[in-house]
Amino acid sequence: MGKDVIIACDFNGKKEVFDFLDKFTEEKPYLKIGMELFYAEGPEIVREIKKRGHKIFLDLKLHDIPNTVMKAMKVLSNLDVDMCNLHAAGTIAMMEAAIKGLTREDGTRPMLIAVTQLTSTSQERMQEELLINEKIEDVVVKYAENAKVAGLDGIVCSPLEAAFVKENCGKEFITVTPGVRFADGEVGDQVRITTPEKAKEIGSDYIVVGRPITQAEDPVAAYRRCVAEFVG
Ligand code: C5P
Repeated sequence: MGKDVIIACDFNGKKEVFDFLDKFTEEKPYLKIGMELFYAEGPEIVREIKKRGHKIFLDLKLHDIPNTVMKAMKVLSNLDVDMCNLHAAGTIAMMEAAIKGLTREDGTRPMLIAVTQLTSTSQERMQEELLINEKIEDVVVKYAENAKVAGLDGIVCSPLEAAFVKENCGKEFITVTPGVRFADGEVGDQVRITTPEKAKEIGSDYIVVGRPITQAEDPVAAYRRCVAEFVG
């Protein structure tokens, strides 16, 4: 499994996305489509981007009863995405149902990864509002282990958690990590960040990079720099 840079296509409409993608005349970057773009444009945006030859990580973070997730995953699988995700909080039964829904008749399926605790959830909020009293790092590892038991391929986590997750779930368990910034770049609203080079050292398999590429003066150059630093 090769390492790759995934560009977070956080645009709110089709025109913005295609104006951005038109800049890439030589490469076909792996793209992440999130809720904003998917809900604005519907599944057709996935088909159109796929037709242009990009791999797609559809970041919709499903969380519902197992039967509903199974059926929704079947739809996503037919959309021919390459990676999708769900909340590990939905339990092992929900994650197993998701795998079942995703698996096509020929046995192939998109990669499936789990969100553990969102990086926006603090230890304090988790305890007071969700009544989870364990340490947040332990919760992340437990959810990652559950995802592995259910047969998922890996998790989304902060690059700073990637090494820890690999230690507990094995080297083959994939880590997809946002929160990446160039050493000389703007941080924006991200807090726990790392550079592409450092993410490589820590052992991330995929880095998800948004604004450092999408808002760069030269997005293609920024993408190439990311690939050079992360993939080598
Ligand atoms: O622009 P930036 O590089 O911060 O974009 C990171 C992308 O990864 C965004 O789409 C953001 O929603 C997503 N993400 C994140 N942190 C998480 C999960 C997803 O930044 N814990």
